[in-house]
Amino acid sequence: MFEIKRKDGLGRIGIFTVKNKKVQTPTLMPVIHPKKQEFDIKKFNKEIVITNAYIIYRDEELREEAIKKGVHKLIDFDGVVMTDSGSFQLSKYGDIDVSNKEIIEFQEKIGSDIGTSLDIPTPPYVSRKRAEEELDITIKRAIESLDYRKDMLLNAVVQGSTYPDLRARCAKELSKYSFDVHPIGAVVPLLESYDYRTIVNIVMSSVQHLPRSRPIHLMGAGHPMLFALMVAMGCDLFDSAAYMLYAQDDRFLSPHGTYKLQDLQEMPCTCPICLEYTPEELRRMEKDERYKLISQHNLYVSFSEMRRVRQAIYDGSLMELVEKRCRSHPTLLDAYRELLKYKKFIEKYDPVTKPSAFFYLGPESLRRVEIYRHFKKIKQLPKRSRAILLPSYGKPYNRNIPKKIKGFYRIGNSSKPIEESQFFVVDVPFCIIPLGVDELYPLAQCEVPKNYDLEMKEFLIKKIEDLFEEYEEVLVNELVNERFDLGLSNKYRDDIEIETKIEDLEIVKLMADYQFGEGSGEALFNGNIRVLRSRKTGRIRYIYEDDVLLATIRPPDGFIILTWDGAKKLHENREYPLNRVVVNEEAEPFVKAGRNVFAKFIIDCDKKIRANDEVLVVNKDDELIAFGKAVLSSYEMMEFERGVAVKNRKEWS
Ligand code: GUN
Ligand code: ZN
Repeated sequence: MFEIKRKDGLGRIGIFTVKNKKVQTPTLMPVIHPKKQEFDIKKFNKEIVITNAYIIYRDEELREEAIKKGVHKLIDFDGVVMTDSGSFQLSKYGDIDVSNKEIIEFQEKIGSDIGTSLDIPTPPYVSRKRAEEELDITIKRAIESLDYRKDMLLNAVVQGSTYPDLRARCAKELSKYSFDVHPIGAVVPLLESYDYRTIVNIVMSSVQHLPRSRPIHLMGAGHPMLFALMVAMGCDLFDSAAYMLYAQDDRFLSPHGTYKLQDLQEMPCTCPICLEYTPEELRRMEKDERYKLISQHNLYVSFSEMRRVRQAIYDGSLMELVEKRCRSHPTLLDAYRELLKYKKFIEKYDPVTKPSAFFYLGPESLRRVEIYRHFKKIKQLPKRSRAILLPSYGKPYNRNIPKKIKGFYRIGNSSKPIEESQFFVVDVPFCIIPLGVDELYPLAQCEVPKNYDLEMKEFLIKKIEDLFEEYEEVLVNELVNERFDLGLSNKYRDDIEIETKIEDLEIVKLMADYQFGEGSGEALFNGNIRVLRSRKTGRIRYIYEDDVLLATIRPPDGFIILTWDGAKKLHENREYPLNRVVVNEEAEPFVKAGRNVFAKFIIDCDKKIRANDEVLVVNKDDELIAFGKAVLSSYEMMEFERGVAVKNRKEWS
């Protein structure tokens, strides 16, 4: 039902297919009140809305009309209609007069596309005993609902109050059954108290254990300032009653926070409402009329922010957007900092290369996945006994470095000749950049302010100190010491002059190791290798073995793009399952004929594969049948039933 088109962090552009109707995610489902719809909601979202089945059920007139005409006609909407049960009313008023079975059967009867069982929205910070007892009921009712429904899709809500382990348990349990969407429930009280940090822990403990192949709906999160952060945690669906609730109090939503009409001298945005009216005119209006206008402003800004979030996923700049948004309020910044603790999990899904550069927007950027991944990647490069740390003379480092550099601090000692050392450039934020891999994304595609902050320097010093542990000897250039205030003592000074030569063959081998994993450089480039640079740009462009082209370097991100001969060579010299995606017999002829690899035909793959990696496609006997670019990470490839997993390179001989 759900497929991924593009990714960034845990965020994804998806297509959710509901009874042949397509919904693009992430998206916002406006909450429709079945009785009082003030304006045409289709102007904002034609694809999906949410309404409340319990409100329809308990009103005799509405109920009869819904049963007769169906819910789509009732609310005059022919896209996807999701319905909520009466759970929220249950949590607010303590009691409702409908059973789980009745409300499921009612939702089916009125033709809801996606129905919800009667979960119990356990509030935050209740006793563990209560949270567990209510969770058991929530899970039991979700499972029962599978028997009560016929062809309606089903929401199965994750509850568990503020206990991360209960949220995780619930997510794991629900994953075992064939539900279609997983809402994360009972976060409204936390939203109201600005406790976004706790929401991050709740969402992450749920998301980590839910199938990636089902959309995740964050219930009740309708404020646009939250969208970027929540999408970056993997949430796909949002519902907004906020547009009405805030309008009722004369409050304007914005991606940066909320404005009260009473404080406004100027209208806050450029939506049609804000262009047409002044704050004074609105203040003088009748309440009903004003409510209608402010709620439309609220929807305009909410949908505009959701479009911005989707564009950021396409651009690969979702985390930059999150960093900007989270500077709107200290509690949001706190939430973002909390999210960064989950980088090990996020790394499994984050694409290895993106269309836009890595922007350093503050100390939090140091804890982003890209930097964490860089340190994982440099561990897989061949290691010698001595590291020589050079300053940056501008990017790309390898082409701007002087032939000879003088003046070092010498820590430790190695018996090896200087020529057998490893060169690293020291620069923020990636800290230790092996000379040679520095044109690969994101090492070159990275923007940093010229004024270094303290956190940057501290982070970098820590990374250099780690090298002192790992190498027998480290030579630190005096400019590095000066630039980053390393404070190395004069007793380590040495006026040695070092030649900084690095061969092109060594560079492409390092690049291959960095990109494809340990040992790939030797596997790919082990014969009579010729490396050709572009005469115009000076960049490496082509890598030949004798007269056979093995690979080209893609200019924007410096990635090695294999040719068919290069793919064959990598395949021959790399053991199964390294760099491989394995397809079943059914898909083999299609893939051989040049078709893309669909996730549902994948039977195995290298767990290290990430979205946008270059991969080998093999059959079950490990014969190479195609090669191309991964659209999904390894974990998603194994899990998804729909959508493209590898885009094959058409170059074919
Ligand atoms: N709307 C907001 N929160 C919730 C929740 O926890 N459960 C349900 N069913 N609806 C909600
Ligand atoms: Zn406006």
